[in-house]
Amino acid sequence: MKAYFTRGYSISSSHRLHTEALSDEENRATFGKCNNPHGHGHNYRILVTVGGPIDPDNGMVINMSTLDRIVNETVIPRFDHMNLNLDPLFKNQVSTTENLCIAVYDLLNEAVKPAQLKRIRIEETENNFFEYSGPQTGSKQDLDS
Ligand code: NI
Repeated sequence: MKAYFTRGYSISSSHRLHTEALSDEENRATFGKCNNPHGHGHNYRILVTVGGPIDPDNGMVINMSTLDRIVNETVIPRFDHMNLNLDPLFKNQVSTTENLCIAVYDLLNEAVKPAQLKRIRIEETENNFFEYSGPQTGSKQDLDS
């Protein structure tokens, strides 16, 4: 038996979509106003989903306070009120929310064990959501399981 628990966290971060692999003109054409040299900010909503068997002793997949502690020690101080482009994780990759999903996933994947990190969903605006479920997933069967 497997159950899932999702908890939401909020961070505010700045970034600029830009890559050294492109010329300034190509960067502007690719990223539009997100390439503004002065950057811009988002109030990101991070939704962390963990799954696993329900512990018969406490009836939980993972204790919410345990997950809060892990996220508050890893993800929040690293990215909240920070310029994402200055983080070493984004030194060689564009600070898109797709890549932020992977960064958050990688920070939490080992830490939440024995619960299994199922998915990171980040809401960037009310219209833009991004999700990452780890390197093994992607097929329809994986998404449904
Ligand atoms: Ni942006």
